[in-house]
Amino acid sequence: MSAWIEHAVPVLYLLSAVLFIIGLKGLTKVRSARRGNMIAAIAMLIAVIATLLDLGLIDYRWILAGMIVGGGIGTVAALKVEMTAMPEMVALFNGSGGGASALVASAIIWLEIIEPAHSGSAASVLGGSNALTAFLSILIGSVTLSGSVVAFLKLSGRLRGRPGWLKARNMINSVVMIAAIAIGLYQTYGAGDPAAIVTWTLALTGVGLFLGIILVLPIGGADMPVVISLLNSLSGVAAAATGFVLDNNVLIIAGALVGASGLILTQIMCKAMNRTLGHVLFADFGDDAPSVGDTEYSNVRSFSAEEAAMVLEDAASVIIVPGYGLAVAQAQHMVREMADLLAARGAKIAYGVHPVAGRMPGHMNVLLAEADVPYEQLQEMDRINPEFKTTDVVLVVGANDVVNPAAETQPSSPIYGMPILRVAEARTVIMLKRSLSPGYAGVKNELFEHDNTMMLFGDAKQSLQDLVKELRELTA
Ligand code: TAP
Repeated sequence: MSAWIEHAVPVLYLLSAVLFIIGLKGLTKVRSARRGNMIAAIAMLIAVIATLLDLGLIDYRWILAGMIVGGGIGTVAALKVEMTAMPEMVALFNGSGGGASALVASAIIWLEIIEPAHSGSAASVLGGSNALTAFLSILIGSVTLSGSVVAFLKLSGRLRGRPGWLKARNMINSVVMIAAIAIGLYQTYGAGDPAAIVTWTLALTGVGLFLGIILVLPIGGADMPVVISLLNSLSGVAAAATGFVLDNNVLIIAGALVGASGLILTQIMCKAMNRTLGHVLFADFGDDAPSVGDTEYSNVRSFSAEEAAMVLEDAASVIIVPGYGLAVAQAQHMVREMADLLAARGAKIAYGVHPVAGRMPGHMNVLLAEADVPYEQLQEMDRINPEFKTTDVVLVVGANDVVNPAAETQPSSPIYGMPILRVAEARTVIMLKRSLSPGYAGVKNELFEHDNTMMLFGDAKQSLQDLVKELRELTA
């Protein structure tokens, strides 16, 4: 390797690490998120270039083939994915990160022990710390991969229900976890020849994949946001472990950043759900489908757009509460138009955003930012909750679980304990949804039966269009 490359590579890695941190900082605010994403992408490009320079004379054909196949799949997926399927795609991408880390660590074992047919344990050939981090990378990467696939299936509604072995879940999980660690330690220090190392590496991968499935499968109800953030964090930890195996500083730093920020996000999600991580992972709550009796309603009052517009016309203060249905209906621009119209008539407008509304962290913020909703109108749950008491109208646009009073009144409910937006305290609640179907947690929402609730059934975008039309007619 020429001298300039030897000097340039660490500088490029340092630059890339600094840019990763600046990019991540940008992602903490809606206003700077787009720029932050771009900076992080440039950091990744610099890291790739530095790595290729570092590797020197290698066969670029495999790398090119990998880039074409991987880039092609990524491009097609990004272009074709519906906005509503974005959370599932994010789950799959988390899993791919974990899988890639496990594969790279396995490849190192292959290239440095199996192919040269070295005898001795992985620890004696690779060095103790490298062999140990390879084991962790394979285990955590496999757990992340299979756990993310299960999360993807749950988010897309392909997998529902409470597995029969749920009651024994903690015991089964503990046994498999202990088995995984024992196999990993044997693979690292015990197995003494290449054939045995191959066998135990495959066993470690298998038990890791199994562990990911059984850890995520029983979690449901409304607890998925915590799991998704945790899997995101684990994909970072697996990458950092692989960075140690490869002795690659930028991978260690990038992996640690993902791991740490994912853990912070997990904590934020736990706080939003009023759960501890242990409670989500080990408590006896499941993904119960509601029984028929659970979702029967009486005293539901359905109104027309004209009647709802008349209530809105007189409102001096309106809080808009968006939920997953806003994403399904792609009603973000229409909601903004509606809010502008009400503001022009003198109403005070705010948006109440619940931290787990939608299907991925920040889902509502992304949609509302796309429609250029003024940032100062966006209010977090803790700040907006005291406002409902003095608000004339709350317009709930495709939200359900995050406004469900059962979270405060029904101890047996899967969402019990989750802080909610207390919309019922407002003078009138107008709910925009298509039917009486439950939200993600699958539970009845008694808010539909409250005397101050007006149900406006229909697709949220269409209902908003109708409301805007009616309001304009009332003004004319
Ligand atoms: P949900 O409780 O899932 O309710 C969404 C509501 O939108 C549904 O009741 C649905 O009713 C309605 N809807 C769907 N399409 C619509 C359309 N085109 N027009 C009008 N309404 C429509 O949503 P939420 O209140 O945002 O709560 C989020 C839930 O997802 C929580 O339980 C949360 O734990 C969970 N979750 C969140 C995340 C993250 S990270 N945010 C990840 C995984 C799971 P109809 O079918 O009757 O229209």
